[in-house]
Amino acid sequence: MTRSYSVRTYGCQMNVHDSERIAGLLEDAGYVAATDDDAADLVVFNTCAIRENADNKLYGNLSHLAPVKSGRPGMQIAVGGCLAQKDKDVVLTKAPWVDVVFGTHNIGSLPALLDRARHNERAQVEILDSLETFPSTLPARRDSAYSGWVSVSVGCNNTCTFCIVPSLRGKEVDRRPGDVLAEVQALVDQGVLEVTLLGQNVNAYGMSFADPDTPRNRGAFAELLRACGAIEGLERVRFTSPHPAEFTDDVIEAMAQTPNVCPQLHMPLQSGSDRVLKAMRRSYRKSKFLGILERVREAMPHAAITTDIIVGFPGETEEDFAETLDVVEKARFTSAFTFQYSARPGTPAATMPDQVPPEVVSERYQRLIKLQERICLEANQELVGTEVELLVVADEGRKSAATGRMTGRARDGRLVHFAVDPAAGIRPGDIVTSTVTEAAPHHLIADAGVASIRRTKAGDAHQAGTTPTTSPVGSNVGLGMPTIGASPIVETASACGTGGCA
Ligand code: 5AD
Ligand code: SF4
Repeated sequence: MTRSYSVRTYGCQMNVHDSERIAGLLEDAGYVAATDDDAADLVVFNTCAIRENADNKLYGNLSHLAPVKSGRPGMQIAVGGCLAQKDKDVVLTKAPWVDVVFGTHNIGSLPALLDRARHNERAQVEILDSLETFPSTLPARRDSAYSGWVSVSVGCNNTCTFCIVPSLRGKEVDRRPGDVLAEVQALVDQGVLEVTLLGQNVNAYGMSFADPDTPRNRGAFAELLRACGAIEGLERVRFTSPHPAEFTDDVIEAMAQTPNVCPQLHMPLQSGSDRVLKAMRRSYRKSKFLGILERVREAMPHAAITTDIIVGFPGETEEDFAETLDVVEKARFTSAFTFQYSARPGTPAATMPDQVPPEVVSERYQRLIKLQERICLEANQELVGTEVELLVVADEGRKSAATGRMTGRARDGRLVHFAVDPAAGIRPGDIVTSTVTEAAPHHLIADAGVASIRRTKAGDAHQAGTTPTTSPVGSNVGLGMPTIGASPIVETASACGTGGCA
């Protein structure tokens, strides 16, 4: 009997993309995507551990699933991703009805672990300390017909004192440029128009190639952007995330000189205070950060720059916070992802003195949001009257349908809701142009009507309900790891609370 699956993803783009690999692996193993998520025979949680609330959310959701599982014999639950890597067998202590726990380094083992759990009637926990296979060498079931993720690296060699990621994702390992480009080409061949290159720190790309025969190359990321520029049919190239400490002018030049690289940059600030940046072990300072933005805007005057900011890092004073507000005022970010500091176990910052009281963090956070909202709105208002080229995106919330609008992403990454005549038959994946008529802090409205429509192969694919499949691209040369099925470091018997095992 065919088993159905559903993958629930939390966290960052790396996880979103890993989930595409998980889905690809499961489909290769004979599972089919569940049409009704609540009725799936297998539910996989791909988790995040970056802040404490991400932790709590998972255990809450697992609790909701316990009675569902007890009412449905044969149902399986798997937990993977960063929180699984962090909690290992603790996942089973907190949620004994889980069948499989797998980490960030061995997603390829999931189908085998599910079989083993079913066969042995015992929960399986397999967490490896370092990468077993590049996720890119696993099959993928892509979510979108028009946009695709392509990993350039996994892991991170930085040591930011607040961050749990390096301990969960391991040391950085870079893929060969040829493998990255082959995957981009495979997506474009199937109609994909937009590719986002992914890595925890893309500016370090080139210094940690897994393949011993690929020489280290500081200019590798800029070269990769230029090489993407030569791929016919690839209309939009984006990347995330760069790091201000390692962001070099060759990347700015490559962005500005490569027409399909989008005028968009996500540049994580974290704090505007030099003192706090030092305590965070982030090696750039406020002036260097602002200097980067200046050079980016010189080269690309209309670049949309977004950021991440943490409020309430241990020891942050009112003066430090004022420095953050000052950078925000000067930087004029298009949008900012703002976070209240959350102590993560095992990170140096978690045990620093002078943890900032929650009420102080929350008050500063509100002030930061208020300032950023004002700036977002002002920056968006400047765009009223300008023409935008939009890649039409699927509107999963169906909000736009109620307003007679569809949604597209502009080249600079902004979301634009545009008025459209349903008879025009525009589909997600098509390209339209329109004129911005109204601005809000987090989106633009273009009610002037659609000036041009370009129907694309991606639009055809979306309409037909197909998404690209990429077969495994590249190799694991240099990882020095055994193949799938490596011995686990932990294996725990499950109390199998609701599963009815002996
Ligand atoms: N507390 C709050 N925010 C954090 N981030 C990372 N670690 C923490 C933490 N411990 C934020 C950073 C990072 C983004 C992905 O999450 O701003 O850039
Ligand atoms: Fe992504 Fe970090 Fe969350 Fe892992 S912990 S899912 S790498 S944001």
